[in-house]
Amino acid sequence: MQNKIYIKNKKLKTSILIKKNYISKFIKQNAKKNEKVFCFIDSKIKNNLNIDNQKNIKIFSIQSGEKVKNFDTYRDLAEKLIKSNVNRKSILIAIGGGTLGDLVGFIASTVLRGLDFILIPTTLLSQVDSSIGGKNGINTKYGKNLIGTFYQPREVLIDISILKSLPKKEIKSGYSEIVKHALIKDYSFFCWLEKNANKLLNLNSSILEKAIYKSIMIKLYYVKKDEKEFLLNNNSRAILNFGHSIGHAIESHYNYKKYNHGEAISIGMITEAKISHYLGMLSANELKRIITHFKKCRLKIYDNIIKDKLLIDRLIKDKKNFLNNINFSLINKIGSSIFYRKLDKDKVYKILLNI
Ligand SMILES: NC(=O)c1ccc[n+]([C@@H]2O[C@H](COP(=O)([O-])OP(=O)(O)OC[C@H]3O[C@@H](n4cnc5c(N)ncnc54)[C@H](O)[C@@H]3O)[C@@H](O)[C@H]2O)c1
Ligand SMILES: [Zn+2]
Repeated sequence: MQNKIYIKNKKLKTSILIKKNYISKFIKQNAKKNEKVFCFIDSKIKNNLNIDNQKNIKIFSIQSGEKVKNFDTYRDLAEKLIKSNVNRKSILIAIGGGTLGDLVGFIASTVLRGLDFILIPTTLLSQVDSSIGGKNGINTKYGKNLIGTFYQPREVLIDISILKSLPKKEIKSGYSEIVKHALIKDYSFFCWLEKNANKLLNLNSSILEKAIYKSIMIKLYYVKKDEKEFLLNNNSRAILNFGHSIGHAIESHYNYKKYNHGEAISIGMITEAKISHYLGMLSANELKRIITHFKKCRLKIYDNIIKDKLLIDRLIKDKKNFLNNINFSLINKIGSSIFYRKLDKDKVYKILLNI
């Protein structure tokens, strides 16, 4: 892998840089270019970085996780920025996982009606997924990500050296989204993952960077075609939701405690692949091959709640469903996906009991 990869996207006005051991230097460079830099750093990684409050850099250390995506933290941080005289020449930088990135993106898009911001994702999941595409948001008591905007970061810096401290469970969570990208769009990428997953999960640099690059390109393909998720065809951004209809229902059923996001969607992907097979779209061989790969990587594939009627009630509440229909983004082959299939809730329950 070369020293750095630069993906510049004119349409989205975002540039993505993949470069190792670069975070502290990158922030200092930004401090030279911008009047004031406000850094929001996940407290778990603050000590891994060589940056402190200095001249025009102000640091907010945040204990992140799903709980930071709420109104109170949003208001607190937005008001702290205003109190610190943030202005249109300032830049916000989020250095953390997807939760911190989603929160800071929302702050950036609303304070002073929009400030420039940079994402430095520090979990594998945020490097391959949440930092790309400009969705941000906070949660409400009625559900996840129900308040937010589409707002692209000016830059994204992906530095895999920060992943060294990430627990294995979180590495696997990010890997689930990588496999998802391969399953929906790229058969040869899936074959490559079958060979290289082990090295990837052990953070082999060149394998990891290649997988991150491939994943980003697949996500960008859909984001460029359908930034605000309006399309109703196989290029819809909603295709990226493969595994998520079931996955989100599982996460919310267990109140976001039993599984992290990647674990819930890996159960979701296997269940939805089985639905695809049941409907005659995905062959038995391909289904078996996917399950074998998930097992080999020790990704979750099943939870008893799948066959419980309670799950159907959760599925119906998903924001992309209405009346008694449930929408799924499914795959018909490894590397090929199908825009939402509307299925009647009783039919879904019957299928789930039979798979
Ligand atoms: N905006 C989008 O398009 C999009 C897409 C997918 C997911 N998301 C959101 O992303 C969030 C999940 O993101 P996540 O999985 O990164 O979770 P996270 O931000 O909660 O990070 C997971 C854990 O890892 C810790 N951590 C972060 N970096 C670390 C490091 N380098 N070393 C050690 N520990 C580290 C965090 O403190 C946290 O405890 C969810 O809220 C989800 O809704 C958003
Ligand atoms: Zn996801």
